[in-house]
Amino acid sequence: MVRKVTIKDVAALAQTSVTTVSLILNHKGQRFSSETIDRVHKAQVELGYSPDYFAQNMVNKKTRTIAVLVPDINNPFFSEFIQGIEEVAYRENFIPLIYSVGANNQKVDYYLKELIRRNVDGFILAVSGLDINLLAQLSTQQMPYILLDQSEKQHQSDEITVQDLMGGQMATDYLIEHGHRKIGIVLPANSAWNIDQRLLGYREALAAHDINFQDDWLINTELSKKGGYQVTNQVIASGVTAVFAVNDELAIGLYRGFAEHQLNIPENLSIIGYDNVDWCEYVTPKLTTIKQPIFELGQEATRLLLDRIADPDKPIQQRILAVSLIERDSVQPI
Ligand code: RIB
Repeated sequence: MVRKVTIKDVAALAQTSVTTVSLILNHKGQRFSSETIDRVHKAQVELGYSPDYFAQNMVNKKTRTIAVLVPDINNPFFSEFIQGIEEVAYRENFIPLIYSVGANNQKVDYYLKELIRRNVDGFILAVSGLDINLLAQLSTQQMPYILLDQSEKQHQSDEITVQDLMGGQMATDYLIEHGHRKIGIVLPANSAWNIDQRLLGYREALAAHDINFQDDWLINTELSKKGGYQVTNQVIASGVTAVFAVNDELAIGLYRGFAEHQLNIPENLSIIGYDNVDWCEYVTPKLTTIKQPIFELGQEATRLLLDRIADPDKPIQQRILAVSLIERDSVQPI
């Protein structure tokens, strides 16, 4: 049987100690002469030595892993977001570990604690209901993390926000510009922070146009295709002529519900969505929506986090990303 090459073999061939080899191979050998460093690298190549991952980690205390917590990996919004994360992480030689936690706060707490114990280098947290004490604990332990999307911002760490309030206003203004004055909004009860902002934007736009909000225009359901589908009857009964669905998944659920009632979009109901996931272009009629820069959100979150890992003492970074309206075929004037 072929014997595995060990660090001792490298040290023997380079005529130095195991500690010296370990420090040099872990990029901590600045104090050694260039001759010693060369000898160690030559011996490593000659013997084909590859340091054991866990042993190396014990010296570095770095795993080059980042943990990403999202609510729902099934939603194309989060798949695209994760692709943005991967794109940067891969380039920088970091491994992202992805967790889809649903609305389960216990799971979030468990993952956070367990992943700290397993030495991840930082967290991207896009989930709601984060325990403030746990976040404070992350800060005390100098564990880098970034809050975005559904997470409520605490201004104690790096954060990215998207212009959700403006997005809500834009969506509602657009429906009003098309002559609609009975405008519903479909969203989850006890929404996450970012979705509440969209609701606020909707309310502000109605008020700015002297439209009196009516309670039955606010339709609560879970944030999913199924959620949209399940409130079809309620939307019909409310008598609205247009709906702002706070994400595209809700809109597609309504598409199915309306089709099953032999009702047409946009003739019987105008719909505007939110996110601009890729299938907006592939449904009939193509969905008009508010675009979030989803891929860039993932990229930017990862860049900020890796910068923080590299330089824990830099000032806290806050970024705001813009939204825009993508006009397609699901809204018609009345
Ligand atoms: O589609 C998922 C929705 O939840 C998005 O709008 C995103 O912002 C998240 O909060």
